[in-house]
Order: sequence, then C-alpha cells, then structure tokens
Amino acid sequence: MLAVGIVKGKEGVHSLDLPKPEIQQPDEVLVRIRQVGLDGTDFSIIRHQLHDIAEGRDSMAMGHEMVGAVEEVGSAVKGVAPGDLVTMTVRRGCGQCHPCLHNQSDMCMTGLYTERGIHKLDGYLTEYAVDQEQYIVKVPPELMELEVFTEPLSIAEKGIEQIRIIQSRLPWTCPHPEHAFTSESWGTCLNALVVGAGPLGLLTTALLRLHEVNTYVSDIVPEENIKAHMVRHLGATYVNARDRTAKEVLDACSIAGGLNIVFEASGAADMALQLINHLSRSSIYVMTGIPREGLLMQIDAAQIVAELVRKNQVIVGSVNSNRTHFEMALRDIGPINSRFDGMLQEMITHRHPLSDFQQAFSDPDAKHIKTVIDIEP
Ligand code: BGC
Ligand code: ZN
Repeated sequence: MLAVGIVKGKEGVHSLDLPKPEIQQPDEVLVRIRQVGLDGTDFSIIRHQLHDIAEGRDSMAMGHEMVGAVEEVGSAVKGVAPGDLVTMTVRRGCGQCHPCLHNQSDMCMTGLYTERGIHKLDGYLTEYAVDQEQYIVKVPPELMELEVFTEPLSIAEKGIEQIRIIQSRLPWTCPHPEHAFTSESWGTCLNALVVGAGPLGLLTTALLRLHEVNTYVSDIVPEENIKAHMVRHLGATYVNARDRTAKEVLDACSIAGGLNIVFEASGAADMALQLINHLSRSSIYVMTGIPREGLLMQIDAAQIVAELVRKNQVIVGSVNSNRTHFEMALRDIGPINSRFDGMLQEMITHRHPLSDFQQAFSDPDAKHIKTVIDIEP
C-alpha cells in the first residue's frame, strides 16, 4: 500500500510501498485511514532531517494526527466495531515504567517509548494501520470533518490540565473561591499569554477562551495575517512580537495583576527563554514547543534563579497526551467549533490528496495554518 514518509540517508519526503498491516492479536483493530493532519513536528522532521527510524528499517511512514474508520476487529475487541469512526493515539509506552504500565505513557520515565509517525514507528500517512484497542478512541460521526483536530487539541488539553493540577497550590488567585484552579469556572479571573498562533497556540487559545480566560496571543505575523485574524475571532488580543523583546511583548499585555499563565506553543527558543525573566508572581509557564534551533544567548543565571524563588514561579514542560486527553479533546471540539463559529474548519487552510504529498510538505505560505491530507479510498 502507498505510504508517505522519510527514507534513511535521503532528504525530503518520499512515497513508500509498505505491506498492508494485518490483525495478529485478538485485541487488535484494523483501521482504514481517512484524513491526516500535519503539524510543526512533521514540517521540522523534513526541514531538519530528524530521521528517527527504527533499527533494521530504512524508512518510516509519517503522520500522527488522524481520523479513520474501523475495518476489522480481533476476537477480543469490545469497544469498537467495523464502520465506527476512530482516532488513534500517538505514543506507545516503554512497557517498563509505572506511568507506561498505567496508560500514562505521555509521562514515560525511561524515555524508551516510541511514537507513531515521529519516533521509530510507522505513522498514519498511509491507507491502513493496525493497533491495540487501548490506543483507539471512538469518535462521534457528527464531527467527522473536525476530528482530525483531536490529537493537536489533546496536546492543549494536557498542557492546561498540568496548569490546573500544579496551580491547585494556589486557591486564591482572585477574591472568588469558585474561581480556584480546581473549580469548574477556574478561568474567569485569569490572564494568559499564548506564545505562537499556529494550530497548537490557536487551539489552546480556544480552550482558554472557552473557560473565559482573558487571553493575549503573540506571534510574528502582521496584524492582517489570518493567524492574527483567528486570534481576534477567538476574543483574544493579538500582540505582534516581531522585533520586540520578551519584556516588550509582556508590556503589551498590560493587565492589572499580571499574567497568571504563559503557554509557549511556538518552539522559538530565544523568546521562550527570555520570557522567564519577566513572569509574574506565583504564575505558571508551560512550554510545549520543541525548539530545533536557537541563538547562543547570554543569560543572567542569578537573576532567573532569584526571581523564580522570590516569586514562587513554576516552569513546566508538557509533551504528548494520553487517551484521557483525547477524550477531553473530543468533548471540547463541538463546543469550540460552535462558540467560535466554524473556527476549526477555517483553520484547515490547505488540503491535498495523499498523492499530492510533495505539495503538502512544500514550504507553507503566509496563509497557512493547518494542512489536512485526504487518504483516497
Ligand atoms: C506530537 C506529540 C509528540 C511530540 C514529540 C508532537 O507534534 O503532537 O504527540 O509527543 O510531537 O514527538
Ligand atoms: Zn515508560
């Protein structure tokens, strides 16, 4: 079957010929893939030749954001049946550490995990995939055209979950106990900055806005760019960070009480690091972008450490997501799309059939947010 991915020792993206996978264990499911979304990780794999191919293989199919339909199930499969629409998670645990043994491989302690389409396992830019039922999440048919966003939204869900768990140390961010991070209406009195208005930044902004968080979003595109337009459409404030220092960006979010949350979703290492110097008291800074390049900067180590201590600040990294975050994402896709009328459809700026993969992977233009690849039947 046709697949698209990377080849050892070769630049760029290539068509591959892979055998059609078959069910081999009773708990496995065969899925026919319908749509695959591309994200920054996919573009960087190609741009920076990050060839994380399994030993003994000379190629790897890419693609880790998908929606498809169950074609066949093993005899022990209970939760899905042929014809069901599903999405599949990305990471497969190391099989050794406690988090991985308890469905939390996003928190793997050994680093010996694999990831479909990214790290040593074939991804979903192909016609079929087989996996264990535990990695397959049923999705409602009504949202078929939007479910390709489940995986990226699950990354935002995990980041926000981490914020809420960690900041439960702080019940009194405002005078209202019902706005504590542990409460349903946790966002109402909070201010946040999201760095980066790509798909992850916009999805995170949508979630924050759904919870009434007053949100600023910075990126380096001009005010008339579609990303800035989407930010405003979400009821957030766009801050153009081009040629601005981290301090200037934060000053542009001039808000009484300061920012409670900074969510880094750009992977721009220099800005990410500089922002550390200017965080508010008791705030939390979540980093989700994985930088591939950055300047060698001079940093004032003493100042960073002293501020962190004096101001009770938290910096936390958040990567990947597990099944529970996929379920949260599925719960929120409908409300996000209806509250911000059709924003998810609008985010799909580029669409290609799988056969057009070279075009899909070519350098994104200024109007680009999300590319979706349709896998032809
Ligand atoms: C994916 C995550 C993955 C991470 C690091 C992201 O693009 O969405 O699932 O863990 O890359 O490989
Ligand atoms: Zn593990």
